[in-house]
Amino acid sequence: MSNRDTLFSAPIAKLGDWTFDERVAEVFPDMIQRSVPGYSNIISMIGMLAERFVQPHTQVYDLGCSLGAATLSVRRNINVEGCKIISVDNSPAMIERCRRHIDAFRADTPVDVIEADIRNISIENASMVVLNFTLQFLDPNERQQLLNTIWHGLRPGGILVLSEKFSFADPVVDELLFNMHHDFKRANGYSELEISQKRSMLENVMLTDSVESHKARLRTAGFEHVDLWFQCFNFGSLIALKAGSV
Ligand SMILES: C[S@@+](CC[C@H](N)C(=O)[O-])C[C@H]1O[C@@H](n2cnc3c(N)ncnc32)[C@H](O)[C@@H]1O
Repeated sequence: MSNRDTLFSAPIAKLGDWTFDERVAEVFPDMIQRSVPGYSNIISMIGMLAERFVQPHTQVYDLGCSLGAATLSVRRNINVEGCKIISVDNSPAMIERCRRHIDAFRADTPVDVIEADIRNISIENASMVVLNFTLQFLDPNERQQLLNTIWHGLRPGGILVLSEKFSFADPVVDELLFNMHHDFKRANGYSELEISQKRSMLENVMLTDSVESHKARLRTAGFEHVDLWFQCFNFGSLIALKAGSV
């Protein structure tokens, strides 16, 4: 059972920008569960996608792995030989806990947990890449480059799973889904103060795109088959497939 997130329950005099530091890492499972509608469904389904898509003797990348929830879901569901999972995050606090978390479970598939910036790593011989709520933290000008790198590193028949918070071009829909997310957090025990303090800290570091702009970027990167497979309010997940037979 993880620690309860009470980081923003008292007024904070000077709200800085959001960082994935020790304090966030300590409460992260509770925080993401209570803040992201559909998170646990997405984690389970990433495992099901892994079962279908991970090819023998290839690599799986979990980019922005935090504590390794998606990594563990993939590892539990891989049933082919000779695979390796490479889990990357640039937060030392996350990486330290991720290593402990992964080591706590025994499995045949090895996992390399790497502290690095996902903009600087190479992607090779991949059959699956996961960006589970990570791309939104990159500068929008750097998002296309990362998707291009992923497409190049994927084998034919490989899959990218891209989960994000979305914005919507229709202002009525945008406001409704924004408010539904707010209701979701309130229903999960967050106060108005916690919601608004967290929101203003994330404002400068988490810039959301529409589903359409994600699809356009994925197609520009080279992905032939792109669509949304999951959505709950303004959160969701896309799959992008690299054409070719396995
Ligand atoms: C919302 S969390 C991702 C949640 C995680 N994928 C999961 O499924 O539980 C975003 C993570 O991305 C990491 N991150 C953000 N920018 C990064 C970058 N440029 N390189 C590596 N990791 C990054 C953060 O440290 C954080 O742990």
